[in-house]
Amino acid sequence: MKSTDRKTLEEIIRVDHAGERGALKIYEGQLLALSTFKNNEKLKKIIEGMKEQENKHFEFFDKEIQKRKIKPTVLLPLWDLLGVALGFGTTMINEKAAMLCTASVEEVIDNHYKNQLDKLGEDEKELKKSISKFRDEEIEHKNTAYDKGATKMGPYSILDKIIQTSSKIAIKVSEKI
Ligand SMILES: [Fe+2]
Ligand SMILES: [Fe+2]
Repeated sequence: MKSTDRKTLEEIIRVDHAGERGALKIYEGQLLALSTFKNNEKLKKIIEGMKEQENKHFEFFDKEIQKRKIKPTVLLPLWDLLGVALGFGTTMINEKAAMLCTASVEEVIDNHYKNQLDKLGEDEKELKKSISKFRDEEIEHKNTAYDKGATKMGPYSILDKIIQTSSKIAIKVSEKI
């Protein structure tokens, strides 16, 4: 039976805790733009729905981090700030950019969660079940984003690259510190 070593487990929970918190902050930033400068009730409803799920994901990892006495990343305040900025900024561009933001992030997270599921041992069955469920929901978010106009055509491909690269860096760093 493959078991999970403590270091791997700490890294997995630390980074997921940071990532789900980041997701929450991105949507907060998007909703901030939608309640100030941009009027789009339809988009607001969609984002509120996704945010609801991110909140559950975050709460799960927040409990795990306490239960297992794992140190959260020291960069949480930075990710909060950048998350809100990314959400706000993309929504201020237009609806397509706002939806691309979700599509790009979720694409990275889909892979990230898949890697984690491969790394976790049989001794972490319950955790694997939760991550697997969250992964399905992130894939749903990605599909919703494409349904609602996310595109990687033309200049949007640059935005996609920026978001995906920053997300990957944030993941690497948050695993370690
Ligand atoms: Fe999530
Ligand atoms: Fe998500």
